[in-house]
Amino acid sequence: MKTIVSGIRSTGNLHLGNYYGALRNFIKMQHENRCFFFIADYHSLTTHPNPNDLYPNVKSVLTDYLAAGLDPEAATIYIQSDVPEVTELYLMLNMHVYLGELAKTSSFKEKARKQPENVNAGLLTYPTLMAADILLHNADEVPVGKDQEQHLEMTRRFARRFNNFYGTEYFKEPAAYSGGGELVKIPGLDGSGKMGKSEGNCIYLCDDEKTIQKKVMKALTDQGPTEMNSPKPDYIENLFTIMKIVSSPDTVEYFDEKWNKCEIRYGDMKKQLAADIIAATAPIRERILEINANPDILHRAISLGRDKARESAQKTIKEVREIMGFRRF
Ligand code: TRP
Repeated sequence: MKTIVSGIRSTGNLHLGNYYGALRNFIKMQHENRCFFFIADYHSLTTHPNPNDLYPNVKSVLTDYLAAGLDPEAATIYIQSDVPEVTELYLMLNMHVYLGELAKTSSFKEKARKQPENVNAGLLTYPTLMAADILLHNADEVPVGKDQEQHLEMTRRFARRFNNFYGTEYFKEPAAYSGGGELVKIPGLDGSGKMGKSEGNCIYLCDDEKTIQKKVMKALTDQGPTEMNSPKPDYIENLFTIMKIVSSPDTVEYFDEKWNKCEIRYGDMKKQLAADIIAATAPIRERILEINANPDILHRAISLGRDKARESAQKTIKEVREIMGFRRF
């Protein structure tokens, strides 16, 4: 059994891209592995330190996680700030992390460019905090997207450096999660390659039927093809990509044929697509409403998660303190 750790920054509701890209995999892997899924609320402070948003954003992610099928009994689902041990490990690791390597991290350079008025030390040491999240449970694997590969590489380097410095083999070097098969990427409805919060083109898991219909009907299209079997432009291909995920193969084939014969009616296609997205996400949305009506569900999940996460974390901290030479008086 492998230990798997995954964090998500708490910046609000989850969308179809989150669900089909990662969440559905998590739901599968939680039964076969020792999984830690946490909400990285400390990390979100590096860019969004807004006290009014913090709680509702964490709550949205947590609700969506549970509604989608993450099981607090099977996996350890927790909030990063519920586990103070992570900040201790972060501090300790930072003593062996160099300014130079942090300053040249891609994500740091990008964020420093985006928020020049707030290039804070938390932003700089973001990779150390992420390494602490991962090493706290001595993860074997971490499911990461392309944008997080450099951070994972740094985690491995920090683990190796710690081990070398203290003459131990304590930390494992975590690998990228390998068992997921091909990663599904949900494109945007606006012709862009990716559905994403900052792109503002998302269908959220909590969107109701009307909202989904409206968003899908507004998707970018054109006059339709004028030549038989012509290649599809990206924004049309995007609609087919989403359809392949939520609709039956027959449906996809039907509209594909219509396209090839220049008979496609985008209105019909969008109506079908909206209906199939609604059907695919309806059980999740129902669960979201149920959780919203019963705060106890979150309560119980989160206190169970906190206990399990802290048990694992405390063991690590105790051992790390030992290795580093801390002794009780
Ligand atoms: N940096 C990750 C992201 O933005 C979130 C994250 C924080 C994370 N700690 C982690 C992911 C530990 C995996 C493991 O997506």
